[in-house]
Amino acid sequence: MATPQNIALIGYMGVGKSTVGRALSHKLHCGFYDTDDMIVQDTGKSIEKIFAEDGEAAFRKKETEILKKILETSSENGRVIACGGGLPLSKENQELLKAHCFTVELICSDDVLAERIEADGTVRPLLAKAANHEALLKEISKMKMTRRFYYESAADIKVETDILDMDDVLDSIMLFGEMWQNRRDRM
Ligand code: S3P
Repeated sequence: MATPQNIALIGYMGVGKSTVGRALSHKLHCGFYDTDDMIVQDTGKSIEKIFAEDGEAAFRKKETEILKKILETSSENGRVIACGGGLPLSKENQELLKAHCFTVELICSDDVLAERIEADGTVRPLLAKAANHEALLKEISKMKMTRRFYYESAADIKVETDILDMDDVLDSIMLFGEMWQNRRDRM
């Protein structure tokens, strides 16, 4: 069975896209690309600084540019792409994902998201106003509702990251990825 050339991981902030993506790329012996890290590298600025100095629209434009760049990079063994949480909101990015990637939405409970976001030390400009745990939970639940449609229409499958352990998460992605690729090959 064949593995998809591109596996894109999408989902809400803190769901584990970078952690799962890195582990998956090791298991598949393929390249790993993290759109947030690449934006930081490319611009020489932190995401916080880009939002503050250039605005969210400039960040979103850069996200699309980076996604295209990743998809154009030659890669014999395929790629795993950890997408920033807001990447699937744009129509252009959705089309790029649909055309080129097996797209996996990672999901987990709001409580776990809030705990991970508080613990991982990454500044997330869209959540910076939440002053405490309760406010963060409220913001997560509100933003998740507005994004649900975009994530669901971009994703080929959904995988839990709080109930399953890492090996199960990776096995699920690989198993469904192979089925998705086989169906594509038959079309
Ligand atoms: C964002 C998610 C962040 C980062 C930026 C905006 C979003 O990435 O791209 O702060 O709009 O959901 P992570 O999902 O990796 O935290």
